[in-house]
Amino acid sequence: MVEQNVMEKIVSLAKRRGFVYQGSEIYGGLAGTYDYAPLGVALKNNLKNIWWRRFVLDREDMYGFDAAILMNAKVWESSGHVGGFADPVVECSKCRARFRADHLDNEELCPTCGGALGSVQEFNMMFETKVGASSVEDNQAISYLRPETAQGMFVNFKNILDTFHPKLPFGLAQIGKAFRNEIAPRDFLFRTREFEQMEIEYFVRPNDWEVAFQELRAEILAYLSDIGLKTRSLHELEVPEGERAHYSKRTIDVEFDYPFGQKELCGLAYRTDYDLQAHQTGSQVDLTFFDEGSKERFLPHVIEPSLGVDRLVLAVLCDAYTEDEMGGESRAYFKFSRAVAPVKAAVFPLLKNKPELVAKARAVYEELKKVVPQIMWDDNGNIGKRYRRQDEIGTPSCITIDFDTLSDNTVTIRDRDTGSQSRVAIDSLPALIAG
Ligand code: GAP
Repeated sequence: MVEQNVMEKIVSLAKRRGFVYQGSEIYGGLAGTYDYAPLGVALKNNLKNIWWRRFVLDREDMYGFDAAILMNAKVWESSGHVGGFADPVVECSKCRARFRADHLDNEELCPTCGGALGSVQEFNMMFETKVGASSVEDNQAISYLRPETAQGMFVNFKNILDTFHPKLPFGLAQIGKAFRNEIAPRDFLFRTREFEQMEIEYFVRPNDWEVAFQELRAEILAYLSDIGLKTRSLHELEVPEGERAHYSKRTIDVEFDYPFGQKELCGLAYRTDYDLQAHQTGSQVDLTFFDEGSKERFLPHVIEPSLGVDRLVLAVLCDAYTEDEMGGESRAYFKFSRAVAPVKAAVFPLLKNKPELVAKARAVYEELKKVVPQIMWDDNGNIGKRYRRQDEIGTPSCITIDFDTLSDNTVTIRDRDTGSQSRVAIDSLPALIAG
């Protein structure tokens, strides 16, 4: 009950301060969809940029990718999604509500009205759509909103070989939207129908999979630490056979302590050559790799780290949410690490009605913004109120321009977590506030 209360407070603060809104809210919403407001976009972009930097820009063996969301339906037939990407659903015979069978404590009685539940059916989670001005009967025109970004990289494997001639091992990395018609979207950003993934398909020689698996496992944990998640809130879980996805021979999930329980944040899977094999058979195009050294032709195997961006945003919000007391006043705020904070610093003139202070503060703000763009100007209300507002959204530093600044080019910088203030030179600000 207490934990549920924390979740409500996080959702409410995220909405009130412009991180995340319910999707289509003025029309009563659309279940399983959320809209990112300006601070949420900034937070999400920071998470994506840090990931892209670590996994693509800082490495020589990764290629960035951005595939179309709509793909030929044959892609999903070959990948096994048309036949098997389903969750078990049951329907109540009385109120007609539908539930995910594997999420129920009692598979016989409706948790809402107590009516009898029908038999378990398989419900395919892909969103189907029609492409072009096609007639309803035209099966050729069926397409799907992709349920994972991965397939866009597998079907371009040959294109990458032909254009970049990479050596093994190498990876393709992509950040993009995925869609799943979840039976029961729930827990805010945790289980939604439209979400974003950051995925890597890392191609290796079949015998080298274990080395790559361990290397990427360590990299995922390093990334989660980069974005400030506490190690004690993260738990690795070896997914047993029978619970793994149809393509995986080994999966390790990283779970996070959300307020509603320890739940999957991201996963690392050994997909073998399942997908390349399936697309080679389905398309009749040779997808083998020719190894110049050994003169062998074979289908590489794949290690796949897959992170849900929205689950990550939620983990960061939950991890950062803090309630404490400062100066005799209680406060609730997001204690973001500097690296992910949507606003790195706020700049204020001490008094709003002193033109010389405002002019100096604007000059400091404008110069600083050229070097650290994620800063904010604030001259509303008194200094105490400005601090409270910036604390709530997780701004690590507040910079005040006062009368001394006019003569000595120093400012007051105040720390969000301790409330301590120090006097520093304007020149030193970029190094102090950059994430
Ligand atoms: N390509 C592999 C794949 O898609 P998955 O375990 O089904 O594997 C990967 O999904 C990640 O995508 C999950 O660990 C989670 O972070 C995120 N994810 C999956 N379904 C989601 C949903 N309905 N809402 C939000 N995130 C989701």
